[in-house]
Amino acid sequence: MRQVKGSLHDDIDHILIDEETLQKRVKELGAAISEAYRGQDLLMISVLKGSIMFMADLCRAVSIPHEIDFMATSSYGASVQSTGVVRILKDLEEPIVGRNLLIVEDIIDSGHTLNYLIGLLEQRNPATLRIVALLDKPERREVDIPVDWTGFSIPNEFVVGYGLDYDEIYRNLPYIGVLKASVYSELDNDPAA
Ligand code: IMP
Ligand code: MG
Repeated sequence: MRQVKGSLHDDIDHILIDEETLQKRVKELGAAISEAYRGQDLLMISVLKGSIMFMADLCRAVSIPHEIDFMATSSYGASVQSTGVVRILKDLEEPIVGRNLLIVEDIIDSGHTLNYLIGLLEQRNPATLRIVALLDKPERREVDIPVDWTGFSIPNEFVVGYGLDYDEIYRNLPYIGVLKASVYSELDNDPAA
């Protein structure tokens, strides 16, 4: 395991989205989702692990009855390169035929992870499949993804915090921040490259 000297915050170059702004936007998304599905079935599916904070706050901001479930896909690990190859590490617990699915993602980068998940879930014949992503890096997109709700569009910088990690660390920061370049160079690996 990588050792972090001092506090996690010392490794942050700058805060991109502060806690208050994040929380306000998540509440707005929750209100919009509640309106969109009012009187209908809703199953919110979070993609582990990066979206846990977003899911936890978003589902509490959704005022209508709904269920939640989780999926896990293979991550890029310490080397953050999108290969387009996605492995399912944990699948849904129940069949989803005829249900209204809402995929809850932390960030859309190349789009390969979501593209694969959409294909997989559509084969199981849900009634509808929509996507909410907290963050979007449109400059990095390699496959087109129909995102229904986006929290924030961000520049092409590697971000951590509020569930997002670098080498499994920094998820517990309450804001979205950009890591100092010196942190990558210790691992000789630039995730934003
Ligand atoms: P995609 O398949 O390239 O769209 O990658 C999506 C996944 O890569 C996200 O769900 C994150 O887990 C991870 N990821 C992409 N960009 C970042 C970032 O800036 N910080 C942390 N994780 C990221
Ligand atoms: Mg993710």
